[in-house]
Amino acid sequence: MNVLIIHGPNLNMLGYRDKKIYGSMTYEGLKEYISVYAKSKGMNTAFFQSNHEGELIDCIQESCHGDFDAIVINAGAYSHYSYAIRDALEICHFPKVEVHLSNVMQREDFRKTLVLSDVCDRTIYGLGPEGYLLALDFLLDKTHNV
Ligand code: DQA
Repeated sequence: MNVLIIHGPNLNMLGYRDKKIYGSMTYEGLKEYISVYAKSKGMNTAFFQSNHEGELIDCIQESCHGDFDAIVINAGAYSHYSYAIRDALEICHFPKVEVHLSNVMQREDFRKTLVLSDVCDRTIYGLGPEGYLLALDFLLDKTHNV
């Protein structure tokens, strides 16, 4: 299974952002953490990060016609208001999981609105980097149970 892991704005700054909220793992460290786990489960991962909404949409659109079987996305702050990213995800007819490192339901009110969730098969938040591993487990379970 080929999984595309997409990160939105400011997630390239992990390790420099508030460590109490996001932990101390850097973006490079996170990619390593996810890909090592994926490999152990026989999955391949590819990563894309952008601070720009249009680039994220282009990446999602291209992935629909590419070699991918699933998407894991942490769109950062766009998760709370980007209907354009939501609509791009809706076009892709493979499994999609939304992940947030922090517990968005216990932070500022604006973070409680998640506009991508209804087009994703699952939303995972508040579990730190482990949330991505659960996302991969979910995708494996889902494809085995088809
Ligand atoms: C985040 C939560 C968002 O509210 C925030 O804007 C981020 C990261 C998370 O992973 O917890 O950039 O998606």
